[in-house]
Amino acid sequence: MADVADIQLLENRWDEAYAATLDEPGRLLYRSNLLGADKRITNYGGGNTSAKVLHKDPLTGEDVVVLWVKGSGGDVGTMKRDGFSTLYMDKLEQLKGLYRGLEHEDEMVGYLPHCTFNLNPRAASIDTPLHAYLPYRHVDHMHPDAVIAIAATANSRALTREIFGDEIGWLPWRRPGFQLGLDLSAFARDNPNAKGVVLESHGLFTWGDTAGESYETTLRIINTAIRYFDGKTRSRPAFGGAVVSPLAETDRQAVAAKLLPAIRQRISAAERKVGHFDDSPAVLDFVNSRDLKPLAALGTSCPDHFLRTKIRPLVLPFDPASNNLDAVLSSLDDAIADYRADYTGYYERCKHPDSPAIRDPNAVIYLVPGVGMISFAKDKATARIAAEFYVNAINVMRGASSVDTYVGLSEQEAFNIEYWLLEEAKLQRMPKPKSLVGRVALVTGAAGGIGRAIAGKLLSEGACVVLTDIDGAALEETKANFAKSFGADHVRAVTLDVTDEAAVADGFTRAVVDYGGLDILVSNAGISSSAPVEETTLAMWNRNIDILAKGYFLVAREAFRLMRGQKLGGSVVFIASKNGLAASPGASAYCTAKAAEIHLARCLALEGADVGIRVNVVNPDAVLRGSKIWTGEWREQRAAAYNLQPDDLEEHYRKRSMLKLSVYPEDIAEAVYFLASDLAAKSTGNIINVDAGNAQSFTR
Ligand code: NAI
Repeated sequence: MADVADIQLLENRWDEAYAATLDEPGRLLYRSNLLGADKRITNYGGGNTSAKVLHKDPLTGEDVVVLWVKGSGGDVGTMKRDGFSTLYMDKLEQLKGLYRGLEHEDEMVGYLPHCTFNLNPRAASIDTPLHAYLPYRHVDHMHPDAVIAIAATANSRALTREIFGDEIGWLPWRRPGFQLGLDLSAFARDNPNAKGVVLESHGLFTWGDTAGESYETTLRIINTAIRYFDGKTRSRPAFGGAVVSPLAETDRQAVAAKLLPAIRQRISAAERKVGHFDDSPAVLDFVNSRDLKPLAALGTSCPDHFLRTKIRPLVLPFDPASNNLDAVLSSLDDAIADYRADYTGYYERCKHPDSPAIRDPNAVIYLVPGVGMISFAKDKATARIAAEFYVNAINVMRGASSVDTYVGLSEQEAFNIEYWLLEEAKLQRMPKPKSLVGRVALVTGAAGGIGRAIAGKLLSEGACVVLTDIDGAALEETKANFAKSFGADHVRAVTLDVTDEAAVADGFTRAVVDYGGLDILVSNAGISSSAPVEETTLAMWNRNIDILAKGYFLVAREAFRLMRGQKLGGSVVFIASKNGLAASPGASAYCTAKAAEIHLARCLALEGADVGIRVNVVNPDAVLRGSKIWTGEWREQRAAAYNLQPDDLEEHYRKRSMLKLSVYPEDIAEAVYFLASDLAAKSTGNIINVDAGNAQSFTR
């Protein structure tokens, strides 16, 4: 018997006093956010909630019942009030008269906008009829792992009855749509005492007269399922027990660092992909288990799961005991080709005359015994969410296979959802991706003025950016600010000194494990110094050469190693200086080191061309704003050299320039973006001066 005290049950977080201060839509939002906050209740973007609310009709002034239901897209956990669509209930009822039967149900989606209340622009979701036709004021539709585990067993109807008795009913699998709405309505009519229903291979519906009652019923039903599985699984190892021992954490990371770019290289032909690695205990339990292969082959069950993860993962034949990584890497071409052939076969077997064209046939999820799970998608958030969904699927398989036979959705049903014309229309409506989506960049000196502007520009174009700097505190602050503007998925921070060979290698490994590879390196970390040659100490000389020449060599070498292996080309941009071309008195160490940078870039442009690695240089001059270089001694010395107050320097440099303009960090970032992106696909070995015009640094 399980020790009940240890069970991780869902906690009731409803605050009735707070709820009483809200209006009915406010309580619906409160309930939705509470439910979506726990991924055991529903997966990201999965499920929806609704309330039927009395409003004054803006045209007639009469009282009308309006359905508030989560609109198309969005996520109940994070949605705001504008995430709900609002529809007249009487018009939704009238739609029943227009329904021509199952084979025409998709056309009903086109009528939903005609039922809109109060010109609400939020598009109604396909699930709207499921909520509308249930004769209850408050309805929750959730995808809890513990309930899907019941819904995905061969005997799910009997199991539902065993666990919930009469309180919760059961409906056979049907794709969400108008007919399922009618089925739910008929169920509620025939079972007036039921508090909800399990949908086979899908999820849970629950309801109540008030928002609080609906919330409590939803939690209670899920907790009943959690308690049931806990009792059944506690004493038994999951998935037939472990047959391999996991590698130690650092070894898992090392294997992932080799596998991620190797996979990415092979699946990025049509669209560059970003990777995600997960070696959490739930994943390791599954990938190390005896039943890994047969269960993985069955595919996922809940439509939400496989829309994100594809119906099946690719299991790689890694053996942690013999560490056969080289053999796995050499067999990768075949494994990926087999997966594609399998997927193409599925498409050909299941397609209808009007099905959309086949989509990317590559796997999304890669399972590696002893190591963990790798996922790839068009951007980081999608790759991470796909991994989370596969963890949901693992939880479902764990529960279902421990009490009964786990069943995935049939191939044809899966296809009908994946290639549903309504789903395709949604994809077609998606905005064109930004120019650097799917690209991974590493920027050194990213906590400084110019580095921050460069990172911001690359992020704004959709890249994932690994920020690196020797100044850990400034770096963390920079990362936190970017995470706020661009989302935490897109940005990572690694504190590293560019002169430290091991630290540099480590930073690149982090980039690979976090994102799957590297496409862009911006080598920007730097310092400045000024002194007549007689007063230039060896320490000053070495410091310049160390950071600006050796540091640039070390990061570029690491990028080359990675990019060459990756076989996807790449772009390296060095931030040198006007002083790398134009000699300047009193700064010989700095000028010489910057000249070395420029020449190194030219040499590397030669070496990288045959594998599509482009190497270019941007030369800034006099970028005072935001630059730490210009806050210290250098600023004082430069001002003294021109007999000026430090605050007059920016104006002095502006007047000195040919174009009579000041140069800002954002101006440097624009040039870097051009060279880093495909806009400059045909440029290598180039130098762009961003100095507002300076005849001395004209290239020749
Ligand atoms: P900054 O001082 O604001 O930023 C430089 C960043 O590099 C700092 O965050 C610093 O912590 C980091 N850094 C220094 N040594 C490092 C090391 N060993 N390892 C890792 N990170 C290290 O300066 P700014 O203006 O943003 O300079 C960026 C680049 O632009 C530098 O290479 C600089 O030489 C070059 N540049 C700047 C000009 C300007 O007027 N600001 C003009 C010409 C070139």
